[in-house]
Amino acid sequence: MSYQVIARKWRPQTFDDLVGQQHVTETLKNAIKNDRVAHAYIFSGARGVGKTTAARILAKALNCVRGPTPQPCGECDSCKEIAAGTSLDVIEIDAASNRGIDQIRELREMVRYAPAASRSKVVILDEAHMLTGEASNALLKTLEEPPDRVIFVMATTQPEDLVDTIRSRSQHFHFRALTFAEIARRPEEIAKKENLKIEQGAMAVIARMAEGSLRDALSLLEQARAYCGDTIPDKEVRELLGVVPEDALEELIQAIAQGSAGGIGFDCSNTGSAPSAGEGSGTVQRRRPNAIFSDSAPNG
Ligand SMILES: Nc1ncnc2c1ncn2[C@@H]1O[C@H](COP(=O)(O)OP(=O)(O)O)[C@@H](O)[C@H]1O
Ligand SMILES: [Mg+2]
Ligand SMILES: [Zn+2]
Repeated sequence: MSYQVIARKWRPQTFDDLVGQQHVTETLKNAIKNDRVAHAYIFSGARGVGKTTAARILAKALNCVRGPTPQPCGECDSCKEIAAGTSLDVIEIDAASNRGIDQIRELREMVRYAPAASRSKVVILDEAHMLTGEASNALLKTLEEPPDRVIFVMATTQPEDLVDTIRSRSQHFHFRALTFAEIARRPEEIAKKENLKIEQGAMAVIARMAEGSLRDALSLLEQARAYCGDTIPDKEVRELLGVVPEDALEELIQAIAQGSAGGIGFDCSNTGSAPSAGEGSGTVQRRRPNAIFSDSAPNG
C-alpha cells in the first residue's frame, strides 16, 4: 500500500472512535437506531475536529450490509469502499472550489437517481458557506424536496454564513474544539501503534500548538517524525516548532522582574533570534531582553 500520512491512516472508522463530540455521535447513533435520520445536517466547527470523519461514518452506518446500524462492521464491501473513498454513493464536494450554480445543478442531477449499490446516497458538501447565492438557492430547492434516500451533510467552519433558509431545513451540530487532554491522548495512542517513542514534553508542545485541532496535532506529529525519526525528544520538537524551553522562559521572566537579565544562562541559538549564552554579562544584559523587547528594531 502506498504511504499514507498519519492523520489519514488513523481516521476514526466508528462513532466510538471519534474523540470528543459525544453530543453529535450519540444523537446520530440514536437517529440511526430509531430510523429517524434527517435529510440534511450541518456539521460546523473549526478545522480538524472530526466533521468530515463523522459524515463518512454516518454514510457507513447507513450503508453497511449489516445495517443501518450505529456500529458499521468495517468489513463489508460498502464499509471498505467508503473508508477508501471509492464508494459511488458517497459524494464529497469541496464547495470552496465548486461554488457556482452549474456545479450544484450537476449535483442535483447526480442525486436524482437511486443509489448505485447502497441504501442511501450521502452528499458531503465541504465549506458549504462558500456557495454563491444562486448555488445556495438551487441547493435549497433540493433540500425542500429531498430526493428519496439522499442525505446531505454540509460541513462548514462558518455556519453563520449559510443562508437562513438552508439552516432552517437542517439539523445543526456544532463540533467543539478539542481540549488539550483530548488532543494529547490521541497522538500518544497513535505513536504507540506506529512504534514511535515520544517524550512527554514533546507531546505537550504538539498538543498545545494544535490549538484544538486534532488534525493539526497529527500533522505536527508527522513533521516531528520526519525531523527526528522514530524517537522524538522534547528538545528537538521545540527546535522544530520554534518553541522556547519552559525553564528558559521562566528564567527570562524572573530576570525581567528583577530588572536584570545578567543571570540568564540559556542558549537562545535554537530560537534563531538572539546570540548564544556565555558572553560577558554586560553584553547579555543589553542583548538578551532585546530578543523580545527590541529597542533597536525599526518599529520598536
Ligand atoms: N474528533 C476526532 N477524533 C479522532 N480523530 C480526529 C478527530 N478530528 C479530527 N481527527 C483526525 O484528523 C483528521 C481530519 O479530520 P476531519 O474529520 O477531516 O476534520 P474536519 O473537521 O476538518 O472535517 C482525521 O483523519 C483524524 O485523523
Ligand atoms: Mg473536513
Ligand atoms: Zn459494513
